[in-house]
Formats: sequence, structure tokens, C-alpha cells
Amino acid sequence: MTEPLLEVSHLHMHIGTARGAVRAVDDVSLSIHPGQALGVVGESGSGKSMLARAIMGLLPARAARSGSILFKGRDLMTMPVKEQRDLWGKQIGMVFQDPGRSLNPVVRVERQLTEGMRRHLGISRSEARTRAVRLLDEVGVPDPEKRLGNYPHQMSGGMRQRVMLAIALACEPDLLIADEPTTALDVTIQRQILDLLRRVQTSRGMAMMLISHDLSVVAGRTDRVAVMYAGRLAETGSTREVFADPRHRYTHALLDATPTLTQARHSRLRVIEGSLPDPTAPPKGCRFHLRCLAATDACAADQPPMESVGTDHRIACLHPVGSTALVETGGAHRGR
Ligand SMILES: Nc1ncnc2c1ncn2[C@@H]1O[C@H](COP(=O)(O)OP(=O)(O)O)[C@@H](O)[C@H]1O
Ligand code: SF4
Ligand SMILES: [Mg+2]
Repeated sequence: MTEPLLEVSHLHMHIGTARGAVRAVDDVSLSIHPGQALGVVGESGSGKSMLARAIMGLLPARAARSGSILFKGRDLMTMPVKEQRDLWGKQIGMVFQDPGRSLNPVVRVERQLTEGMRRHLGISRSEARTRAVRLLDEVGVPDPEKRLGNYPHQMSGGMRQRVMLAIALACEPDLLIADEPTTALDVTIQRQILDLLRRVQTSRGMAMMLISHDLSVVAGRTDRVAVMYAGRLAETGSTREVFADPRHRYTHALLDATPTLTQARHSRLRVIEGSLPDPTAPPKGCRFHLRCLAATDACAADQPPMESVGTDHRIACLHPVGSTALVETGGAHRGR
């Protein structure tokens, strides 16, 4: 297999707050190969955005990170700032949830779209404009020539998000990081843009990290998936295998709470009882143990190590789904 494009090892990010340090990302290791799409999923607050920000070096105030983040074999943590600046926007593109905030409201689409190309690729204004038209067309913006003259407020939310995507793709990055890129949009538009994202990702042979709290967003649109819980990785593997045969108890519960993926349309929405632990004082052992129906004393004692349960399928769970050693009585640990 080829070398990973992005290889994150033992990444930690802590954020200082008045209540103590938030352990937003805790010992996360994962990799993305060239041309591959990795989904990152987990409930809101599980650390997905902080993982993306730790990778991108966009740390919140009073945050510190450790570990290593290799991009094409070079560590982004120690790379000189000048080189990093050249990397972001050129080799790694980003799209966030809210295009209203990422687009400059007083600058026309044309300039926002061509600025990066001219800076990073050193091309002329007219060449950048030609490329801009082609890009808008690629991301499904009708009448692209005319749209170049628009200000963001003259476009719908869906169109603005397409423009953001065009900006992120402009310098032909090798990796696109998309953090809940469609959450602010209505469901039909969301689906269109997500499908577009996957189409562009595969046709360009670009790698992608697609972050969402919604499992149905990454299903069918990513090759591999990483499930996060309370700052830690619970499970990683091929998207197809993890969704068809989840082994970590958290992934299993999360899938159960996503009826569009697992059940008939009319079934009642189930939720995972309880809530995420206090990020400044997470419980010892498996972070999920206070909510897990299969928890035992061992789960509360030590953090379960990440172990292989198949080709490219890893979990951090002492009593995986499907293991015979445990009788599922429910609330085993809490009952005592
Ligand atoms: N600027 C911040 N200061 C302190 N804590 C933060 C900050 N941003 C996020 N957090 C905390 O970090 C944890 C992970 O948040 P986040 O990565 O945004 O979750 P997700 O993207 O999975 O919804 C949460 O407990 C959240 O409250
Ligand atoms: S069985 Fe134990 S290790 Fe596995 S998710 Fe439940 S509490 Fe965590
Ligand atoms: Mg987030």
C-alpha cells in the first residue's frame, strides 16, 4: 500500500478553561491515504472539530497540542510557519459549516475565488478567471460567469456553500477537510452537496476528511470511518464494515440511534441514554462506561487499548458487540 498522505499519531489537544483543562482530543491516531475519504463521526461535543483544528493548527485560545501530524511525511507541528502558509489552501483545502462566516460579505465572488489561485499558483488574472468559471461549473453553480460578479448575500445558502467548496478546490489540493459542511442547509440541498463532494473527491482522486455528527452523511460517501467519543477514538475501519458490523458498543448504540441507516422509516428514534461526560473531568477507564449497557468493572478501571478485530478494523472496547463472553443483562456496571 502507498504511504499515508496524512498520518496523525498520539494527538492530544487540551484547552484551558476556568473549570480546568478540556481534554478535547485525547491520544488520537489515524491516517488517510491518497485519494481516500475518511469520515469522522460522533455525537456533538465528541471532539471532531477540535481534531480538525488541531490538525490545521487553528487552535482556540489557551489550547495546546502534542503528538505528530505528518502530511506527506513532514510534521505539521514543527514545520516553519512560512511553509505551513504555503500548504494551507494549496495542498490542503478546508470547508466549514457556515459559509456566511467564511465568505467575505463585501468582496465579490470572483475575487474570493481567484485570490488564492493567483497567490499560490502565480497565474494571471484572466487565467484565474477562466479557472474560476470552470470551478463554479464543476460544483454545480449555474450561470457561473454571472455569479462571479455577485456578493455572497446575493446567493442562497446552498450556492454559497458551493462557492466555498470551489474556493477550497481552486488550487487542486491533495486533501480536503470538510467539517459539517452542510449542517446549516436544508435536507435536500445537503444531500446534493454531499453527493457532489463525493463525486468531486473521487473524480479528482483527492483525499478527504468528512466530519459529521450524522452517520448517514458519511455512509456511502467515505471509504473509511473513525468514530470518536469524548475526545477519543472508539472504532476505525472501512465504512462498509463498521456500519454493517459495528464492534464497539458506542458505535453500535450510535447506529441504533440513526434509523435512516438501520431501520424502516417509521421506527421510533432511539437515543443513547445519558450524555457525554464532563470534558474537564472525564471518567477513568472507557469514557463510555457510564452509558454503556455492557459495562463491567474492568471497563471503569483502565482505558481499553485499540485492538484489531479484522483487516483494517480496530476498536477500543473490552466487550465488543458479538463477543460471547458477556451476557447482556444491561447496566451491569451501574447496577452495583
Ligand atoms: N474554545 C473552546 N474552549 C473550551 N472548550 C471548547 C472550545 N471549543 C470546544 N470546546 C470543547 O471541546 C470539546 C470538543 O468540542 P468539538 O470538537 O467542538 O466537538 P464536535 O465538533 O465533535 O461537536 C467539547 O467538550 C467542547 O465543549
Ligand atoms: S463494553 Fe466496556 S469498553 Fe466497551 S464500550 Fe462498553 S464500557 Fe466501553
Ligand atoms: Mg463540530
